[in-house]
Amino acid sequence: MSLIDKYNRTIKYLRLSVTDRCDLRCFYCMPNGFDGYEEPEDWLNFDEIERVIASFTRLGVSSVRLTGGEPLVRKNLPELAKRLAALPGLDDLSLSTNAMQLGKHAEALYNAGISRINASLDTVDPVKFKTITQGKLDKVVEGLLAAKAAGLNPIKINMVIMKGVNDDDVEDMVDFCKEHEFTLRFIETMPMGDTGRDAVDYYIDLHEIEARLEKKYELIPAVMAGAGPARYVQVAGTDLKIGFITPISQHFCDTCNRVRMSATGTLYMCLGDEHKYELRPLLRNGISDADLDQVIRDAINLKPLKHEFNEKPEKVVRFMSMTGG
Ligand code: 5AD
Ligand code: SF4
Repeated sequence: MSLIDKYNRTIKYLRLSVTDRCDLRCFYCMPNGFDGYEEPEDWLNFDEIERVIASFTRLGVSSVRLTGGEPLVRKNLPELAKRLAALPGLDDLSLSTNAMQLGKHAEALYNAGISRINASLDTVDPVKFKTITQGKLDKVVEGLLAAKAAGLNPIKINMVIMKGVNDDDVEDMVDFCKEHEFTLRFIETMPMGDTGRDAVDYYIDLHEIEARLEKKYELIPAVMAGAGPARYVQVAGTDLKIGFITPISQHFCDTCNRVRMSATGTLYMCLGDEHKYELRPLLRNGISDADLDQVIRDAINLKPLKHEFNEKPEKVVRFMSMTGG
């Protein structure tokens, strides 16, 4: 079985948001003082989530990433992870996190079947970290080290690069990731929601960053396992791999293999698109497994050919925290 969209892309990968809440406030993601959260009774419960993921795996999806908001804000996440990891056909379960609570949960997550994680970290300067996220850098570093100690591998650090905000932290991030054997990935700022659109003022084309790094390091093309769109290089003479995720300067929509589901059971076919398909009412009205499979197939046909972040930056009103990165 495979899920193929109308542009002939095979969908192998679901990003599952388990909450739209977050314990940080990255300025480019969530507005300060934001309180327009979804109500808990509208969140899919673990049984409902398991049903949907079982349906996706029957249809050929083999990778699931738990995301948020901040997924560790959702209670008993390791229990959910364990249930999903046990589904036949699901052979890659991962997590995207801000790492604030990894110190507490890393071991349980690993034992539940999460093999690898992506963590958001835009700077290793504690003052700047506080300005960007309103949180404490110490907690994040503690969480990352706990993840490493628990055996999670690889640990990929996602850095959204913004000119005049953290572009001069790139070299320190390289040193930090080299020291701790993390993979470093740079991401271009996207106009998701009003916060993202404001942050696009700081947008930099990552080719500029790569050219700068090439003056200091010898970068050789590399490959890295994973389902995503990053292009990798390795710093010669080290184990450090660096990935470039360039949704704006060089979009990768023609090889997109993923869809997303919000915490309330809404399928979003594209980060750059407001098209959606609500599964929650169907689940709560007793839809059969066969009909659920068919509904998901139909929803996949709404997947657009490409995002329009450049042509229509005003298009996406939801914040990144609603669908996860
Ligand atoms: N553009 C690019 N990346 C973003 N993220 C959040 N908002 C944006 C945006 N507007 C990133 C976070 C995290 C991931 C979940 O998405 O930094 O790494
Ligand atoms: Fe939270 Fe991630 Fe958004 Fe930062 S980017 S506010 S950590 S959801």
